Amino acid sequence: MISLATPQPSRCSDPTSKAVELAYLTFEHPSLEEAERFLTDFGLHVTHRADDGLWFRNTGPSPFCCVVKRAPKARFVGFALAVATREELDALSRLPEATSIEPMDTPGGGERVRLNDPAGFVVEAVHGRSEVEPLAHRAPLRLNSPAAQSRINDGQRAAVAPPELTKLGHVVLEVPRFQDSCAWYTRHFGLLPSDVQVLPDGSPMVVFLRMDLGATPSDHHTVAIVQGFAPHFEHCAYEVVDADAVATGQRWMQERRWHHAWGVGRHILGSQVFDYWNDLWGAKHELYSDGDVFTSDHPMGVHEVSRKAMSQWGPVMPRSFIRPELSLANLKALARVFGRNPDVTPGTLYRLFKAMG
Ligand SMILES: [Fe+2]
Repeated sequence: MISLATPQPSRCSDPTSKAVELAYLTFEHPSLEEAERFLTDFGLHVTHRADDGLWFRNTGPSPFCCVVKRAPKARFVGFALAVATREELDALSRLPEATSIEPMDTPGGGERVRLNDPAGFVVEAVHGRSEVEPLAHRAPLRLNSPAAQSRINDGQRAAVAPPELTKLGHVVLEVPRFQDSCAWYTRHFGLLPSDVQVLPDGSPMVVFLRMDLGATPSDHHTVAIVQGFAPHFEHCAYEVVDADAVATGQRWMQERRWHHAWGVGRHILGSQVFDYWNDLWGAKHELYSDGDVFTSDHPMGVHEVSRKAMSQWGPVMPRSFIRPELSLANLKALARVFGRNPDVTPGTLYRLFKAMG
């Protein structure tokens, strides 16, 4: 049986706070019009407009789940995690990497503390945002099986339309210092490792972290951390009502001529039926349904990493999905980590490239 060879990922018994919701993502983009075209085709709704930004919501009660600010260069800035109490926000504000508590003038109001995680992503802790009326979406389709027919004298007609995104589900980040980043999220936001994928020598390459909601089931992952050699936004994911919504979403995005990244398939770890789409600057956005949910007592699983281990059916993950861009910035980042970062050695990278085909 394969085992983990490093201190992280592991649980923190006394975290600074416990995240209870992935609140929103923050991007920058030179063209708000183009960003809006992609995100509304993908299923988000504009809820607030300003000269310098656009705020988007899904069908759920969150006042917004994505903000795009106008800036010269497209980039992912960071994301926000909601905490349940103001005391937790206060505790986070006392960390050396944190701002003091500040009021939010964005839709839904509330208060926030801004932090930088060890990889440099901006992580906002938010509290007290007011909710909005959820938007209507179709119910999950009733399915017939050999043993149980729930749909008699009736057909199955899921409409091809912009996906109805019910929730912002998770964000996946590549980081150069896996141990530091993983420890930071478990220590300060109480995230629990659900599953870790390791190399044959036990070095962790991917960890799926879920929120600690006690006996309330929590999504298999809200934040996932991938060993890389530079900070990089890997993807974000939104939940839809069922697998037909993932597939009709694919048809819709194809008809709108967006660039497909991978899917439809079903993941192994987390079990989601998934489909991935690239936006205008190559950032990946995922539609998913039917993911696993765990209570806080569920232990961490340890698994060997490989390209085939990323899905149980559907196409094998394309090499283009994870291949780093051969750019001067990436080569410089690679040169910087060697010899200075114990998480990334030439041997680690060799074993990872071998494992991922
Ligand atoms: Fe995902």
